[in-house]
Amino acid sequence: MATAMSQLYTIEDCLLTQLDKISDIRGNLTYIEGKNRIPFDISRVYYIYDVPAGSQRAGHAHQSLFQLLIAVAGSFDVHLDDGLNKRSVTLNRPYEGLLITPMVWRIIDNFSSGAVCLALASAPYDESSYYRDYDQFKVVADKRRQSHPTNTVTN
Ligand code: TYD
Repeated sequence: MATAMSQLYTIEDCLLTQLDKISDIRGNLTYIEGKNRIPFDISRVYYIYDVPAGSQRAGHAHQSLFQLLIAVAGSFDVHLDDGLNKRSVTLNRPYEGLLITPMVWRIIDNFSSGAVCLALASAPYDESSYYRDYDQFKVVADKRRQSHPTNTVTN
């Protein structure tokens, strides 16, 4: 069975997921329950807020961690990079979550005033699971891609 460590993830696997939104005259409510809508058990929750204008967060990748990012207030941009391709996503709806798979470098910037980035994570915080050096991440990502059975890169 493929594990997060052996699976080859790309930015195409970082899907934008619609979360349930319950609206009535008192306002809106969105919930996330267990594995409903997300492909991992939630082990940790953290949130980023009071981000000064022009600041950038993240700038790292993880060996095996899955995350779901939600703009529960305001908006921000998430720049995804699997070592081969890049894609940027603007999060600005509290009922949308962006899945970020293992081995995807992410940078978060362009925070609006009052933005809150909620992050659900599949494992407890573990600094040793981070790639914080882009060049090191790229070397590992390239090796994984080249050695993967589904690799079709011929150069
Ligand atoms: P960091 O990973 O630099 O935040 P960002 O997502 O913007 O890259 O984390 C900032 C600090 O917070 C760092 O010292 C590690 C610590 N931290 C925890 O203790 N627990 C956590 O769950 C997270 C995400 C960070």
